[in-house]
Parts: sequence; structure tokens; C-alpha cells
Amino acid sequence: MTHVLVAYGTSRGGTQGLAELIGDDLRRRGHDPVVRPAAEVADLTDVDAVIVAGALYAGRWHKDARRLVKRQADRLSTLPVWLVATGPLDGTAETKQIPPVAHIKDAAATIGARGVQTFGGRLEPDAKGFPASTMAKTLSGDWRDAEHVARWVDEVDSELRSASPR
Ligand SMILES: Cc1cc2nc3c(=O)[nH]c(=O)nc-3n(C[C@H](O)[C@H](O)[C@H](O)COP(=O)(O)O)c2cc1C
Repeated sequence: MTHVLVAYGTSRGGTQGLAELIGDDLRRRGHDPVVRPAAEVADLTDVDAVIVAGALYAGRWHKDARRLVKRQADRLSTLPVWLVATGPLDGTAETKQIPPVAHIKDAAATIGARGVQTFGGRLEPDAKGFPASTMAKTLSGDWRDAEHVARWVDEVDSELRSASPR
């Protein structure tokens, strides 16, 4: 059984929901996922693989995701790791492979991540704060696509099954 940590950095809860979807899919495929806020992850001793998911804000990956990769870089570079961004408030993440923002690309290179993936995001109509509340007037919606996530988790699952320890 593979112990997979799914860590998330979120400001408005959408990425937590995405991380839980990933966790549910991994569990259905026979893995043992733990879904936790990235800011609370202090120890990766008993973990076999890691997925770090973070929201995109103004072209930047959520700070909790960024900081987790930075402080655990040595350990993460010995594990199979996938970096996930959630963001676009339209269908583009589903229809094309969105290139990662620069610092996700750099983080992936630093730790030798197995993959990077962008999924659609969510903005609730009553989002608080500026500029989120203004954006929500025209852009609110939920673009996290469960089937897209399940297809991607299938790929992760295949790699985990064939993965030899790095
Ligand atoms: C102020 C603001 C800036 C955003 N900037 C980006 C962005 O640069 N790229 C992107 O793809 N999505 C962007 N989004 C969409 C968010 O990434 C999306 O709403 C995401 O699901 C939020 O995650 P959270 O609910 O976990 O905080 C932005 C949303 C807001 C409110």
C-alpha cells in the first residue's frame, strides 16, 4: 500500500476540495492517501509519494505550497512527487495542457518532480476581499473537473505501481 501525502495551499477552499478529490481517487485505486494543509506538513518520514496542490493567484503558486517544497526539498527529491496548480476560471485546463508558471517549473526541476498539472479553479459568487469580489461578478464558477482529475490520478497510479524507489 502506498502512503501518499496530498498537501494543499488554499485561500478560499477550492484547492482543498481538489486535494480531497485526488485523495478519494487514490483511495479507490488502492492507495492510502492523507490530505493535509501544506502549512502543517512537518515530517515526510512515512510517506512514499507526495502531491503538492496550490491555488494560482496573480500568476503565483500559493505560498503554502511553495514553502512546503522549499523546506522539504531534500526529502522531496528522493520521492515521487507531482506538483498541481488550480486556477483557470474557464474550461482551458481541461481542453489543453497549461504550462506551469515559472516558479512551479523551477520547483519541479529542483526536486525532480514526476509531473506538473494544472486543473480548473473555483471562485464562489460571494467571494470576499478585493479583487476577488469584483472578479466574482463576472468570473464565478467551479471549473474543477472530477473526470479530468480522475484521468490524471490514473496516470499517477500507473506510475506509482511501476515506480522503483528513486
Ligand atoms: C485575485 C485572484 C487572482 C487570481 N489569479 C489567477 C491566476 O493568475 N491564474 C489562474 O489560473 N487563476 C487565478 N485565479 C483563480 C484562482 O486560482 C481560483 O479561484 C482557485 O480555485 C482559488 O483557489 P482557492 O479557493 O483554493 O484559494 C485568481 C483568483 C483570484 C480571486
